[in-house]
Amino acid sequence: MKKIYGVIGDPIAHSISPAIQNDAFTHQELDCIYHPFHITPENLSDAVKGMKAIGIAGFNITIPHKTAIIPYLDEVDELAATIGAVNTVSYQDGKYIGYNTDAMGFYKALSDQISNLTEKKILVIGAGGAARAIYFTLLSHGAISVDITNRTLEKAEALIADCPFEKQSAALTLLQAEEKLADYDVIIQTTSAGMSPHLDAMPFSIRNLSEGSFVSDIIYNPLETKLLKEAKQKGADVQNGLDMLVYQAALAFQIWTGITPDTTRMKNIMRTTLGGK
Ligand code: ATR
Repeated sequence: MKKIYGVIGDPIAHSISPAIQNDAFTHQELDCIYHPFHITPENLSDAVKGMKAIGIAGFNITIPHKTAIIPYLDEVDELAATIGAVNTVSYQDGKYIGYNTDAMGFYKALSDQISNLTEKKILVIGAGGAARAIYFTLLSHGAISVDITNRTLEKAEALIADCPFEKQSAALTLLQAEEKLADYDVIIQTTSAGMSPHLDAMPFSIRNLSEGSFVSDIIYNPLETKLLKEAKQKGADVQNGLDMLVYQAALAFQIWTGITPDTTRMKNIMRTTLGGK
């Protein structure tokens, strides 16, 4: 019997997940289908119960349900529980189990480019949901020196205080981070500054960026933010958000099927879909 997967969110029409996952199912010759479901917050509880009752084999969760879904699941993977957000659910032995492949996807994307992350001095820009997933994941994988800078300093301080892993982290204002930017080997941009349509925005000036540094921006629309363009001009290596997007999808597929999908193929579909927007 055909297995049904999906993605739930509000709104949901913009999601590119169906294009990627349906192609991966077809490519692997699996009799599965992946469908977008528009679920509003007031219907979330009923939706999860209904999905289980009709045998939905797994699904992704997007805005605004990533945290709200947790009480409706049977189990949550340890890192996802610590982060407090779930973006992938898998049906296993009668239970809905939650994972956070956004976090794992980011870590895989970054560690593909940088082998000895635990020895690097890292700066995370932003202290929202994405920063929380990235910061916790880095520390859970043994990185220790990870500072956080945020427009609202108190949120960076709260994020550090909230993190249960071993750390040597400082919370910095954007101005402080801008001044000491040369101290960092890896800079990770998680805010919406620079995302379409705000193409000219940057969290701060990178005039002090050192030439050999690595700059990762989780934005994928546009594929090259102003920050990445300027960082490249200053001799840094850069990475956009496409790799993270691909790996979070690939890891979800792997959790559901046990098969590692063709990530180059996924990336091409994403590029085409995003380019067409
Ligand atoms: P997400 O879940 O995508 O991380 P979020 O939780 O709303 O979204 O967090 C957005 C982050 O981007 C915050 O760190 C926010 O800074 P504040 O905490 O001061 O609000 C940051 N942010 C948004 N726009 C920004 C801008 N123009 N410059 C700098 N930081 C910005």
